[in-house]
Amino acid sequence: MLRHLTFPILLLLCLLSSCKKDAPTTSCNESPAYKALPFDLGVAVNIQKLQGNARYRQLVTAQYNRLTAENAMKFDAIHPEHDYYNWAETDYLINFAKEHDKKIHGHTLVWHRAIPQWLDTYNGDWNLLLKEHVHQVVSRYKQQVKSWDVVNEALNEDGTLRKSLWFDKIGPSYIEQAFKAARNADPDALLFYNDYNMEHNPAKLDAAIALCDNLKAKGIKVDGIGLQMHIAAEYPLLNDIATATKKITDAGYKVHFSELDIRMNLNGNKTSFTQSDLNTHAQRCRDIFRLYNNVPEQYRFAITLWGVSDADTWLKSEYGNNDIPLLFDDQYNPKPAYCEIKQLFQ
Ligand code: XIL
Repeated sequence: MLRHLTFPILLLLCLLSSCKKDAPTTSCNESPAYKALPFDLGVAVNIQKLQGNARYRQLVTAQYNRLTAENAMKFDAIHPEHDYYNWAETDYLINFAKEHDKKIHGHTLVWHRAIPQWLDTYNGDWNLLLKEHVHQVVSRYKQQVKSWDVVNEALNEDGTLRKSLWFDKIGPSYIEQAFKAARNADPDALLFYNDYNMEHNPAKLDAAIALCDNLKAKGIKVDGIGLQMHIAAEYPLLNDIATATKKITDAGYKVHFSELDIRMNLNGNKTSFTQSDLNTHAQRCRDIFRLYNNVPEQYRFAITLWGVSDADTWLKSEYGNNDIPLLFDDQYNPKPAYCEIKQLFQ
């Protein structure tokens, strides 16, 4: 008897208390998320999936208003041979964006990864090569791509410069050269420095701000800083993320949460996920969106999710763990996080 009463009693207690307010919604309609938000909602897009997966394409079209190429605009993809640029995938994305009225954020001109093989044996003028690459890519897409991650992940955790191929061949000035070339190719574009872990590592963030300030002092305008936001449910602390965000805007830069995903299986010990995991993920997501909404409007740019659904996340192949970091599940159904972020702004 008591067992039969347990559920109604719990339900009543729940309705009387505030638990309803905090319990993430489990389902909601699929009205466009980006329209519900007071800032742009971006997503990293895989071009083959955009072409070949109808549900993927439909979600990209309906839910987001800013697109980043997950890989198509990286050096190895777009410049696979010395004398050959492969524009096909990016052109496709650009046309898709035009057709569906989406903005495009360019990612990324200079990175220590995504280096094509031909650069391993290249023995020409590296300064010229870098300048030429940046010029070609930025000027080709000038009409449609109004913002760029010019340099990606140039810093070590202690704030020193990473010894990348670009650093080895050109020296620290490769950063300045890349920004200069991008600025020359498109004086109006918003130019970003983008990196990870700066949400909770002040040494790295301070170095990034100093780097941008240095460029500015030399007359090379940098517009913003991208916090990648590859984060987990319990880490970093919300306060640390807020402090990092404020540091960036206090220094006068726009802030982009540029590659958001929330890991729920950091240690790899989960083989499946519970409703409670989904709810924790949703609450974390809501907290991040709420925090970003507190950024003064002139410093906001977008929150970009690093993938459409859990079926598309890079985390699985990068770390070998199953995970549920994004707004749609691996069947492309909306998750509580998707409903939460929409409700936040209703
Ligand atoms: C990742 C892509 O998602 C993967 O598909 C690819 O294999 C490796 O790169 N920081 C970045 C992104 O700036 O470009 C990376 O994207 C994820 C980490």
